[in-house]
Amino acid sequence: MTRKKILTIVGARPQFIKAAAISRAFKSHPGIEEQIVHTGQHYDANMSDVFFKELGIPAPKHRLELGGGSHGKMTGRMLEELEKIFLAEKPDAVLIYGDTNSTLAGALAAVKIHIPVIHVEAGLRSFNRKMPEEINRILSDQVSEILLCPTQVSVDNLKAEGIKNNVHMVGDVMHDATLYAIEKTKNNKALLEKLGIAGKPFAVCTMHRAENTDDLERFDQLIRFLEQQATEQDIIFTVHPRTRNLMTDRGITPKGLHLIDPVGYFDLHTLLQHCELVLTDSGGLQKEAYFHRKPCITMRDETEWVETIESGWNRLWTADDWVGERGNIADYGTGNAADISVQLIAQFLSNSTSDNRSK
Ligand code: UD1
Ligand code: UDP
Repeated sequence: MTRKKILTIVGARPQFIKAAAISRAFKSHPGIEEQIVHTGQHYDANMSDVFFKELGIPAPKHRLELGGGSHGKMTGRMLEELEKIFLAEKPDAVLIYGDTNSTLAGALAAVKIHIPVIHVEAGLRSFNRKMPEEINRILSDQVSEILLCPTQVSVDNLKAEGIKNNVHMVGDVMHDATLYAIEKTKNNKALLEKLGIAGKPFAVCTMHRAENTDDLERFDQLIRFLEQQATEQDIIFTVHPRTRNLMTDRGITPKGLHLIDPVGYFDLHTLLQHCELVLTDSGGLQKEAYFHRKPCITMRDETEWVETIESGWNRLWTADDWVGERGNIADYGTGNAADISVQLIAQFLSNSTSDNRSK
C-alpha cells in the first residue's frame, strides 16, 4: 500500500503543542507519512525547540527561518518558500493549525497549487477583524478542504459563513495535550521551589497579543490591572519575547510581578496545577485553565472560547465577576480529538481524487 503524505506546517508555540498531539496519533496510523515544515516564525529555544524535545515531535524535514518583520513581509516570505517545498514534496494534503501567519501562508501556498488543506481548530471567530488572527482564520477556513472544529460553536460559525461540507466537530486537541502534560508532570514541584512559591497562593500570567502590545495606552492599563491583582497574591508572569521587547524598549518594570522567561510546556502545566488563578490573553491558556479547573481572567475584550465564560470559569478583565455556577464543558471532547482527527484525515485521503472540493 502506498502511504499518503501529509505536510504539517507549524511555526508558533501553540502550533507545536497542537501538532504534537496529532503527530502521536499519526505515528500509529500505517497509511500516513507525516513530514513537518517549521516556518521559523518562533525561533528562540524556549519558544520552539523546547516543545520538540519535551513533546517528542518529529524533527522538521524543512526548517525555514522566516520569523520577525511585519505581517506582509513574514507571510509573503513564507508563501514563497512553502510553495517551493510543496512543489518539490508533492504532498497529498497540507495540514495547518490555528490562526497564525504560518497558518495562512500554508493554506494559501497549498490551495493555489491544488493541494487539499486540512485545518485543525477551524471555525473559531472573535468577530473582531482588527485581530490578525481573525483574518488568518477566516481566510484559511475559506480555502480548507477538511475543517476540524474544536466546538459546536465553531461548527455553527462556519455554517453561518456557508461552509458546511467536510466540517467535523472533533473536540479540542489542546484537551488531549493537557491530559498528556498532566500525566507527565505529576508531583513535579521543582519549579515551584526554584521560584519560591511552593505552598503559597499564586497566579500564572501571560500576555502577548497584538491588540494588547501594539496599543501602548492599553498595555499600560493592563500592567496597572496586573499590579492591582498582584496585591492579592504572587503573580508569575512568563513573558513572551514580544512583550519583553516592549517592556525593555519602554523601560517598563511592573511592580510586584515575578517576570520570568517563557517556560516549557510541562513547567507551564506544573504552574497551572498549583496556581489559584490564571491571567492571560492567550487562546490556549483560557482552556488549559479550565482543564485544570482554575478560574481565569482573560485580558481581551472578547473571546472565541465562549464556553469558558458561559460555564463560569473565565471572565473578561472588564467584567466585574464570573457568571454562573462553575460547570463542565462537554464541547471540548474527552481528550481523543487527535485520534478522531487522524481517522477523518485518513478516510478523506483514501477517498481523495484530484478535486474533492464541493462547497
Ligand atoms: C503569534 C501569533 C499569535 C499567537 C502567538 C503565539 C500571528 C499573527 N500571531 O504572535 O496568534 O498567539 O504567535 O505565541 O501569527 N520573537 C522573538 N523570538 C521568538 C518569537 C518572537 O524574539 O522566538 C519576537 C520578535 O521580535 C517578533 C515578535 O516577537 O517580531 C512577534 O512575533 P510574531 O510571531 O510576529 O507574533 P506573536 O506575538 O508571537
Ligand atoms: N505556554 C508555555 N510556556 C509559557 C507560556 C505558554 O508552554 O511560558 C503554552 C501554554 O500552555 C499554551 C500555549 O503555550 O498551551 C499558548 O501559546 P500562546 O499563548 O503563545 O498562543 P495562543 O494560544 O494565544 O495562540
